[in-house]
Amino acid sequence: MSANLENNKIFAAILCALLTVMLSGFFANLIFYQEPLKEDAVHIDGAEAGAHGGAVDAGPKLPDPIMAMLATADAEKGAKISKACAACHSFDKGGPTKQGPNLYGVVGGPKAHVAGFAYSDGVKTKGGTWDYDSLNHFLEKPKKYISDTKMNFAGLKKASDRAALIAWLRQQSDAPYALPSDADIAKEEAAFAPKEEEAAAEGEEAPAEPSHH
Ligand code: HEC
Repeated sequence: MSANLENNKIFAAILCALLTVMLSGFFANLIFYQEPLKEDAVHIDGAEAGAHGGAVDAGPKLPDPIMAMLATADAEKGAKISKACAACHSFDKGGPTKQGPNLYGVVGGPKAHVAGFAYSDGVKTKGGTWDYDSLNHFLEKPKKYISDTKMNFAGLKKASDRAALIAWLRQQSDAPYALPSDADIAKEEAAFAPKEEEAAAEGEEAPAEPSHH
């Protein structure tokens, strides 16, 4: 009898220990899985982006920010990049209309800035000026920014290329548009917050080749 009772006590003690282990595991899960769950909740917001799992090359929803780069961007490199536009655009004052409008003074100018050019409805009705933010979006992928645009150009993928080009383009003007202020830069960085690490990396010394993937 007493041996049996003793066994029961031991059994109960083991059960108790097991339960404690299981329960503490359960509570640990409650604590440790909170972080990943929060992240998932954010990903649901931008449903499509989730599919890419944040991979660097996978066509991010927003182009990388450029404003912090503009003041020090290499305008000469921008002049070279503009050769990719020159089949369709002239850049000199009073230059001819080609497939696209002349772009002298376009930075900071109104959208559809050349009177008489047969713009798409999208460009005509977009409104506002070609400020740095809209140029960044348009030049990264024209059809993403204005879906019916007549500009048949795939886009400039690299933020440093767009910054160099825009830095050069703003000089093709009688009165170059003001460079972004610190407040403009901060505003852009806030709007692009999820990518701010990359922006910081690119803003550093040589934005030439973000070569690692
Ligand atoms: C294949 C021809 C083509 C190429 C290449 C091209 N563009 Fe265009 N671009 C156009 C056309 C056409 C329009 C008018 C778009 C519309 O009305 O939808 C346009 C419009 C624009 C506008 C808006 C002008 C305004 O007055 O509102 C800007 C800015 C611009 N292009 C910049 C560039 C830059 C910078 C490049 C080179 C990186 C480039 N484009 C390459 C054809 C081209």
